[in-house]
Amino acid sequence: MKIYVMTLFPEMVEQGLRNSITGRAMEQGLLELKCVNIRDYTTDKHKKVDDYPYGGGAGMVMQAQPVYDCYQAIREEIGHDCPVIYMTPQGKTLKQSMAGGYAKEDTLILLCGHYEGIDERVLEEIVTDYISIGDYVLTGGELPAMVFVDCISRLVPGVLHNDQSAVGETFAEDLLEYPQYSRPEVWREKAVPPILMSGDHRRIHEYRLEQQIQRTKERRPDLWEKAKPQLREKLSNRLKKNLLGE
Ligand code: ADE
Repeated sequence: MKIYVMTLFPEMVEQGLRNSITGRAMEQGLLELKCVNIRDYTTDKHKKVDDYPYGGGAGMVMQAQPVYDCYQAIREEIGHDCPVIYMTPQGKTLKQSMAGGYAKEDTLILLCGHYEGIDERVLEEIVTDYISIGDYVLTGGELPAMVFVDCISRLVPGVLHNDQSAVGETFAEDLLEYPQYSRPEVWREKAVPPILMSGDHRRIHEYRLEQQIQRTKERRPDLWEKAKPQLREKLSNRLKKNLLGE
């Protein structure tokens, strides 16, 4: 998968994604990240990319020309249309359920804004999707772009190792994760739940599911309300299957 990031701070995005799993994915060629500096495309002799907003108001607005020319250069390099995602608090909130669709694209372009935003006319011209990473306002789209790239790249086949699989279990997708424990068996007088040491995989699976349900109820009652009907249906389907001996 190839991701172009249009930004005024290419180093910030490159450095942020160069480490850990996304960094390894790039080394393996599973993820190609190209951060393009919008400033390189300005026709202004002072390399200016922003100006005062028409109608007045605080701050500066990123001008249409450098953003459009930057996009055109990328579009020419790619040779076909692809989603152009503008990171903005006015967008649709990023959800895990949206990530899989984007992870299947072979090319994406992300656009990061700064200052008080980008001239609306160029957004109308090039943007296909508006995405927010949450209901708060950041100083620019770079951190949201990094969050987005991290979130979708872990769903690209081969990026996670088998033992870190992102594929949820039957019920797992709508619930929070169960608690994890590693060595030592006792730490500061706290023992690992004995069931995890039992080797009984069926019971461990049941225990973990129970933990997931309890955690989701306690910590994210909003998610639990949504998960409840689906979970009930899945559990009763499983019961039916078991009774039919499948
Ligand atoms: N730019 C500034 N704040 C943002 C947010 N919450 N999500 C996406 N882009 C942003």
